[in-house]
Amino acid sequence: MSAEPCTRIVKAGSEAATAAAQCLAAGGLVAFPTETVYGLGADATNGSAVARLYAAKGRPSFNPLIAHVADLAAARRLARFDPTAMRLAQAFWPGPLTLVLPRMPDCPVSDLATAGLDSIAVRVPDHPVARELIATFGKPIVAPSANRSGHVSPTTAAHVLADLRGRIDLVIDGGRTSVGVESTIVACLDKPTLLRPGGLAREAITALLGHPLAEAPLVQEVEEDEAPLAPGMLASHYAPQARLRLEATSVEADEALLAFGPAVEHSAAMLNLSVRGDLVEAAANLFSHLRALDASGAKAIAVMPVPEQGLGEAINDRLRRAAAPRGH
Ligand code: TXA
Ligand code: MG
Repeated sequence: MSAEPCTRIVKAGSEAATAAAQCLAAGGLVAFPTETVYGLGADATNGSAVARLYAAKGRPSFNPLIAHVADLAAARRLARFDPTAMRLAQAFWPGPLTLVLPRMPDCPVSDLATAGLDSIAVRVPDHPVARELIATFGKPIVAPSANRSGHVSPTTAAHVLADLRGRIDLVIDGGRTSVGVESTIVACLDKPTLLRPGGLAREAITALLGHPLAEAPLVQEVEEDEAPLAPGMLASHYAPQARLRLEATSVEADEALLAFGPAVEHSAAMLNLSVRGDLVEAAANLFSHLRALDASGAKAIAVMPVPEQGLGEAINDRLRRAAAPRGH
């Protein structure tokens, strides 16, 4: 009989950072909390570690990864910052903003991690565990969300284990993540373009820049043979088993209900994103509530309308993806 592959679980702390950094240096895979969602980290400069990471996630290898670094100085060794990118980084890092920028000619990140593109996604996370790990390891860490490809992103260590136990080396348990949806992605290649709404509200970015962001072309408009701008934006990406019915104004007896706002009654499974209608709280609850309602075994989940402002834009984006037909 072959031994069960095992995944170590360690509580956050300085010993965890040391053990995790050693694991990364040996080419291993480490899941760790960031302020947005848990990431699955690998040494960004080690092509075979990155290959193992894609395999563990079951992720199509054309989908490039975000390089996580300690600060702006470290990011500037990987990517070229124009004045707009500098302003965004200075205003919002560390924090839930990823910048897609031209890759430096001597950028040490493996070509596999950037899927052969001449751009690179970089981010400085704002979570003490992520920051300590990056500082201890001393090199960029590529980290997609720590879920199987096509599944909902993890906001607790238990979510990570549900998807990846036995497939990765170590999980640092740092409790629940605070933001709850992935980082906002802005490309500064030509004019600043929103590639993915996320944990930093669009309004905060446009207020700083003083003008609107350009929009990424819709995935449907992208030719099949051309890599989409943010390939993770494929229509069906964050998929629970249950069918999602969006903008529900009523609920069937056999549906689970994902509520938003005050006082709703429902006899079957129900969870509320935020009783007081707070979009920040709703974002933090989104993925764990989706997982829990999915686990209730309901065939369908009715989702109440969520306003399209602030973090509501990212919430609605993830809900639409979770509701999209499967099959790619
Ligand atoms: O909050 C987050 O961003 C989390 C935490 C762990 O940092 N990470 C995350 O990574 O959400 P992932 O791999 O699930 O999503 C990264 C997205 C994908 O949609 C990918 O296609 C896009 O970033 N991306 C990465 N590099 C890119 C590039 N050079 N050009 C365009 N899109 C890129
Ligand atoms: Mg992901």
